[in-house]
Amino acid sequence: TYFDEPKGPLSGKNILVTAGPTREVIDPVRYFTNHSSGKMGYAIAKVLRDRGANVTLISGPTQLTPPDGINVVHIESTLEMYEEVMKRYSDVDAVVKSAAVADYRPKYTSQHKVKKKDGPMTIEMVRNPDILKELGEKKERQILIGFAAETKDVAEYAKKKLTSKNLDLIVANNVLEAGSGFQSDTNRVTFFYRNGKVESFDLLSKNIVAGHLADALISMLEVNSK
Ligand code: CTP
Ligand code: CA
Repeated sequence: TYFDEPKGPLSGKNILVTAGPTREVIDPVRYFTNHSSGKMGYAIAKVLRDRGANVTLISGPTQLTPPDGINVVHIESTLEMYEEVMKRYSDVDAVVKSAAVADYRPKYTSQHKVKKKDGPMTIEMVRNPDILKELGEKKERQILIGFAAETKDVAEYAKKKLTSKNLDLIVANNVLEAGSGFQSDTNRVTFFYRNGKVESFDLLSKNIVAGHLADALISMLEVNSK
């Protein structure tokens, strides 16, 4: 059998994609998480693979089938995601951070089921590392793409995150808008670039949005290599 050499605009590029929610364990039967479905991140990973990239997908728990031709690493907590991302960072050309990362985790994880008592209860939470911010601080040649799922003042928050995390591009959406929710197959996004350029898209399937993101990444990688 004859196999073609892998080709495409991203051939030879190593790209790290994170997707899905993270899960922060309280006890053996309970955890904190969010509504992320992982659909956006998986769609991105597949488009980048189809364009020739060597893709590693660091995935939180999702209902999705691990795609062929992609190195999929399953994690649960933010600390696990942090470790898997950091150890690969120096070898990658770009990171697409579409995961919905838990900002806090319970300070203590109970080895046994927590029993109810009379009256209210409190769980003390501690901050998780901001993975993307740390990538921004350690950035060398890597292109960094972040996401901002907001419920108001989308442009303002997104631009703040673009700057504070030292990103090249941030993909922003309003999760309260019809068709742009976490579990949806569609999304209406705006791209805010480092150079101030802004691109607004109509409501599109997440696969099409992933294609636009791949186009943007390809042109940023080209500029970077000149
Ligand atoms: N992110 C991350 N590590 C975290 C939190 C967020 O890598 N601990 C990444 C997300 O994957 C996303 C981007 O940062 O690409 C923005 O996440 P978001 O939750 O919107 O921003 P935060 O900086 O956490 O701010 P806030 O939740 O307060 O809006
Ligand atoms: Ca957050």
